[in-house]
Amino acid sequence: MSEDGKERVVELRYEGGAHTLPLLTGTEGDEAFETKTLLSATGKVTLDPGFANTAACQSKITYIDGEAGILRYRGYPIEELAAHSSFLEVSYLVIHGELPDSGQLKEFSEQLRANAALPAEMRAMLDAFPRDAHPMTLLASAVNTMAAFYADTVDPKDSEQVDRATILLLAKLPTIAAHIYRNSVGQPPLEPDDSLGYVEDFLRMTFGGLSGESELDALFVRAMDLLLILHADHEQNCSTATVRVVGSSQASLYGSVSAGVNALFGPLHGGANQAVLEMLEEIRDLGGDVDSYLAKVKDKESKTRLMGFGHRVYKNYDPRSKEIKGLAAQILDRQAEPDELFELALRLEAKALADPYFTDRKLYPNVDFYSGVIYRAMGFPTSMFTVLFALGRLPGWIAHWREQRLDPAARIARPRQLYTGHAKRSYSGS
Ligand code: CMC
Repeated sequence: MSEDGKERVVELRYEGGAHTLPLLTGTEGDEAFETKTLLSATGKVTLDPGFANTAACQSKITYIDGEAGILRYRGYPIEELAAHSSFLEVSYLVIHGELPDSGQLKEFSEQLRANAALPAEMRAMLDAFPRDAHPMTLLASAVNTMAAFYADTVDPKDSEQVDRATILLLAKLPTIAAHIYRNSVGQPPLEPDDSLGYVEDFLRMTFGGLSGESELDALFVRAMDLLLILHADHEQNCSTATVRVVGSSQASLYGSVSAGVNALFGPLHGGANQAVLEMLEEIRDLGGDVDSYLAKVKDKESKTRLMGFGHRVYKNYDPRSKEIKGLAAQILDRQAEPDELFELALRLEAKALADPYFTDRKLYPNVDFYSGVIYRAMGFPTSMFTVLFALGRLPGWIAHWREQRLDPAARIARPRQLYTGHAKRSYSGS
């Protein structure tokens, strides 16, 4: 509506006709031409590969201003949440819309701690996978099979079941992730310890000694918590859009999140954090020549991208990357020797941001550029990096799935196409 209360519209003219589209305004950010009557009124569809110009829903969860480098969860700037909150608080905020009071936070935390253990059959299932399988493949499988282990929590129409599935997923994902890691390095998995906090216990279950004892490094605990906060949601990214698409068919929360884990695995999305580290190792092994690597990236024939750079939405510094870079400096400066991969990343960034190829295309470091050097310093192998992204993104996936479930405007996701194949031809005609 405009200020005088009239509906704002845009006139679409095309050969042979015209159509009026409402122009919708959100709280802030892009306005939207509403095209939902377009096909029925004009017989035409929109063509938008990668949905770069398409808003698939209205959402109240996360706001991004990609030009200004702004990210807010439920209205709170990411920098304030990073400075003052915890991952559990942020998870509650993202899912329920408001920060929890102390009683709500205590109850939430207790529910998660009480449900962290895995049933013996699920542990046996995880133990049956090949030890060298990628942890993301196992994570997606484990989340999917939760629909089998908790079959009384799969009905998306039942709010109590949805609340229960929400708690079970949040509670068990760190245990599953730690179990997968321990198997991959040939160590017996550890049971959760409900006297510890969510992040502390995840690190203990991952790196603890054989009897479960662990000296937790306070800075690593805080760093892990902060990294999870910074990954908690990012509006309609590829994996969240996947969770929504799968959920739109009224599939279970587990099936939808499992699909999201698989979408996250790709190197253009969450898999980029692993790819960045592998790229830095490759540059180091070739003698640390940043200039020739950048020359290769700029040569389109090489099909090489500067991993951890560029973003569909940010045309400015990704605000998460700024936070993570500061954290990486804090952690790596404690080491006796400078971290060669962090030094390389800093040199790559400086060179890229002084190069018109990157500045003209507004390519800046994204969330994945510096996170890997921190995970590496903590002791995680590269294959676990995207699993850590998934642990962080879980509240966002859940929040979007739940929001869509209650959205009266939501419909099954079913895009159109512009058909460019053969016109009708006959099997026996040639
Ligand atoms: N290195 C070199 N060139 C790039 C890069 C890059 N990382 N990213 C984009 N470009 C170029 C691209 O070649 C194109 O150039 P031209 O206009 O000459 O054809 C231009 O920039 C626009 O690129 P695009 O592919 O149309 O951009 P997109 O919005 O479709 O893709 C992206 C976004 C994130 C997939 C892409 O920037 C990329 O592949 N980055 C590297 C992978 C990465 O770091 N992914 C993590 C993304 S952030 C966290 C997450 O989503 O999980």
